[in-house]
Amino acid sequence: VRIALVQGASRGLGLAFAEALLREGACDRVIATSRDPDASEGLDALAAEHGDALLRLPLDVTDEKSIARVAERAAAEHDRLHWLLNCAGVLHDPELDMAPEKRLEQVRPESLRRAFEVNAFGPLLVARHFLPLLRHDERSVLANVSARVGSIGDDRLGGWYAYRGSKAAQNLFTRNLAIELRRRAPRCICVALHPGTVDTELSKPFQRNVPADRLFRPADAARNLLRVMERLGPEDSGGFFAWDGQPIRW
Ligand SMILES: NC(=O)c1ccc[n+]([C@@H]2O[C@H](COP(=O)([O-])OP(=O)(O)OC[C@H]3O[C@@H](n4cnc5c(N)ncnc54)[C@H](OP(=O)(O)O)[C@@H]3O)[C@@H](O)[C@H]2O)c1
Repeated sequence: VRIALVQGASRGLGLAFAEALLREGACDRVIATSRDPDASEGLDALAAEHGDALLRLPLDVTDEKSIARVAERAAAEHDRLHWLLNCAGVLHDPELDMAPEKRLEQVRPESLRRAFEVNAFGPLLVARHFLPLLRHDERSVLANVSARVGSIGDDRLGGWYAYRGSKAAQNLFTRNLAIELRRRAPRCICVALHPGTVDTELSKPFQRNVPADRLFRPADAARNLLRVMERLGPEDSGGFFAWDGQPIRW
């Protein structure tokens, strides 16, 4: 029996991961979380198709108690996870007046806080609570969906302070976690992934300069990254990989 947790699965890339893992039979059970998973039409459709193989649970990465509750519930039903995919992320949020900064004057503490809470602290706290389910003797993958713009070495354009900074912090946490997991969950491969530009709500306002053949449908992006993850070996743990399997510098 193969079990996945897809965190941030109500839409976009996370929903596409949940779909692909169920449809292609890679998983017998997918636990799909988001703040309000019952409000997701995409998850409704998946539930109709897959019944009990899909378990929807509410998890807000900024509310640690909700993470703990989902971990408890998952542990009550399963003794291990084979995939832990942290997908939730935020780039812009009109409710918070949050948008990527083009210049220093646009930097706002509220946006910085939100980006770091969701993009950086979120995946780390999820890992903290799900560690017991990763400590087993079968291969597993813990993937934190990151973004190339979080690479410090690759930053040539500047701007996007909150998003870039939070993804850089997420990447450090992923690398750090991989080092700890080597000892505490040695069969778990822990990586940061860049999906490319994916046609989702997150990227919608920023797709203008993306060539059509470089804008992935969520289903294709999920498939690309699942292929990358399937090929990872223990020596790849602690790495940062793009959708085509190429390593990205930190
Ligand atoms: N799209 C791109 O071009 C692109 C490029 C590079 C990297 N990425 C990364 O890929 C990941 C997925 O992005 P996407 O494009 O699929 O975005 P999306 O369509 O906007 O989906 C974001 C997901 O995150 C969840 N989420 C947001 N805030 C949350 C919170 N506080 N607690 C729990 N879940 C929360 C949302 O669920 P609810 O709002 O329903 O709770 C939703 O499921 C992100 O980490 C993003 O940074 C995307």
